Amino acid sequence: MRIAILGGTGDIGQGLALRWAYDTDHEVLIGSRDPERARTATEEYETELDSHGVERKINGFANEMAADRADVVVLAVPPYHVGDTVESVAGKLDEGTVLVTPAVGMNGDDDGLHYHPPKAGSVTELVADRAPDGVPVVGAFHNLAADRLANLDLELEVDTLLVGDDEDPKETVRLLADGIEGLRVLDAGPLANAAEVESVTPLLINIARYNGDLHDVGIEFH
Ligand SMILES: NC(=O)c1ccc[n+]([C@@H]2O[C@H](COP(=O)([O-])OP(=O)(O)OC[C@H]3O[C@@H](n4cnc5c(N)ncnc54)[C@H](OP(=O)(O)O)[C@@H]3O)[C@@H](O)[C@H]2O)c1
Repeated sequence: MRIAILGGTGDIGQGLALRWAYDTDHEVLIGSRDPERARTATEEYETELDSHGVERKINGFANEMAADRADVVVLAVPPYHVGDTVESVAGKLDEGTVLVTPAVGMNGDDDGLHYHPPKAGSVTELVADRAPDGVPVVGAFHNLAADRLANLDLELEVDTLLVGDDEDPKETVRLLADGIEGLRVLDAGPLANAAEVESVTPLLINIARYNGDLHDVGIEFH
């Protein structure tokens, strides 16, 4: 499988890229608005993998070119730019290319972070509204801590929740996520349930903030 991570130069993109490259044989492409920034990131990721005994080639491209080449496109960009990012690559997405969104809208005040969904109900549904016809959307990875993903010395031992309306693309993303060691995938239902999944993310960040020894906290359901 060829996975393009748009905004793969950022935190969650780095974590997912490293884990997929470390744990699986999937081809990972890093996308950026600036192809030079993408290439710089791939060099850093390759160096990190090399230091863990894994020699992998990761290629970097402009977002449009990465999306053009991929079977699955992960939108690892800030929530308020995810819709525009979908539109910027829409012409490059083949029918059946799976769009994956981990984005969560939040705002903060002195007390902590608070879930702040868009009018669509959730960022995941906003992405589905903006995706071209025939391009399915799956929400995943919303509740993972980027730093924990990016630290290959740490065992993950966390769950990730999937939301989506179509079974085949959901199964594709389930297999990709399952390939990451220590990540258990649970089905949280259709896109209409995305707000419940997204809203867990500010809760996790607030828990980390108010409990000093908890960093990069995740969820595990028993
Ligand atoms: N960080 C986490 O732990 C975490 C966990 C779960 C979910 N998420 C979600 O994942 C998404 C990415 O989070 P992040 O922390 O990785 O974000 P980030 O590091 O702040 O940004 C990721 C990348 O987005 C691109 N970007 C920045 N501004 C943009 C714009 N105006 N238009 C298009 N692209 C832009 C940048 O790439 P280029 O400059 O190279 O284009 C940047 O490297 C967010 O929606 C967040 O809610 C994050």
